[in-house]
Amino acid sequence: MPVSKQVVLQKAAQFYSESLAHSADAMSYLQARSLPLSVVDDMKIGYAPNEWDGFVSTLNAEEQAAALEIGLIAESNGRRYDSFRNRLIFPIRDEKGNVVGFGGRTLTDDTPKYLNSSESDVFKKSQILYGLDLAVKSGRKHLLVLEGYTDVCGLRAHDINTPVATLGTAFTEQHAHLLAKSNVKHVTFCFDGDKAGRDAAVRAMDAWAMLHEAGVEVGCVFLPDGLDPDEFVNSRGREKFSEYFQSNRLDAANSIAKLGVDRYLSYGKSPGLDAQLNCVAYINDLCMTADVSVERVRAAFDANPAFDCVQHSLLSQIDEFRQPPLE
Ligand code: UTP
Ligand code: MN
Ligand code: MN
Ligand code: MN
Ligand code: MN
Repeated sequence: MPVSKQVVLQKAAQFYSESLAHSADAMSYLQARSLPLSVVDDMKIGYAPNEWDGFVSTLNAEEQAAALEIGLIAESNGRRYDSFRNRLIFPIRDEKGNVVGFGGRTLTDDTPKYLNSSESDVFKKSQILYGLDLAVKSGRKHLLVLEGYTDVCGLRAHDINTPVATLGTAFTEQHAHLLAKSNVKHVTFCFDGDKAGRDAAVRAMDAWAMLHEAGVEVGCVFLPDGLDPDEFVNSRGREKFSEYFQSNRLDAANSIAKLGVDRYLSYGKSPGLDAQLNCVAYINDLCMTADVSVERVRAAFDANPAFDCVQHSLLSQIDEFRQPPLE
């Protein structure tokens, strides 16, 4: 009987966890990022020592074979060595709480910034929401969907116990299914206040319809430029964070309007006709993807003074683009 990958994952989690306190660098990194021991304990954050064989030397031959398959160790010229070295380790658990993989953040400026377990039958990134086991355990029915490990940990450090993260991949149909199955009633997307974060919001658009169909109400919060969720809560505090959330949570139509405005503004002071038409097509695409009527988006433009910068002549064109092209 081959050693189960679960056993090796458990062993690894234990090893990284025990190594954390021995590393002054890792401990001061946690402090610099305002991550307290309560969160280290919650999320079982660990550390992979700066050695080639720290972990592999604790495994027998059978265990090494399993560890190779899931990418915890690697092999070169017949020698086996640890994949994760000198990295802060975030164990990734499935919704039931079983460790299925790891993300390791460099403490220096090595690339990649995060090294993740390789995809395997036990670890499929598109089917995992980091933090979901604890968020569900909290009994809260409103979850926040973020991008990254440290966003989840950073919010938890401020006693916000409902964040989950997609770990840098798109929010997929499987993610939506996972949330619906977990009896979640409300979801708020809150990606980074940067280009990648806005792209993630766009890519999540087709999940809105899916979630909606599954009886989950959805909203989106766009953070101020340059801030990740953890940076927001660390710099402004929990209260400001929830205030911001309450007054900036947008429904589908308003999110589309907001993305349309961003696109519009990206063309500079007075966008030419091509740019305007491009915006209109973009808004139409988003409406179709999220299954939102253009009327609702137009109403959102009308109701929100923040969207006034877009010329109304532009809005009147949104509808025309919905007509199927003539033969
Ligand atoms: P970000 O680049 O936004 O990283 O990627 P972050 O979470 O804010 O990281 P910090 O704050 O610099 O530590 C978002 C997520 O994408 C995945 C990780 O899950 C990360 O949390 N990612 C990013 C990777 O898997 N590998 C990478 O090299 C970068
Ligand atoms: Mn931080
Ligand atoms: Mn980012
Ligand atoms: Mn970050
Ligand atoms: Mn980020």
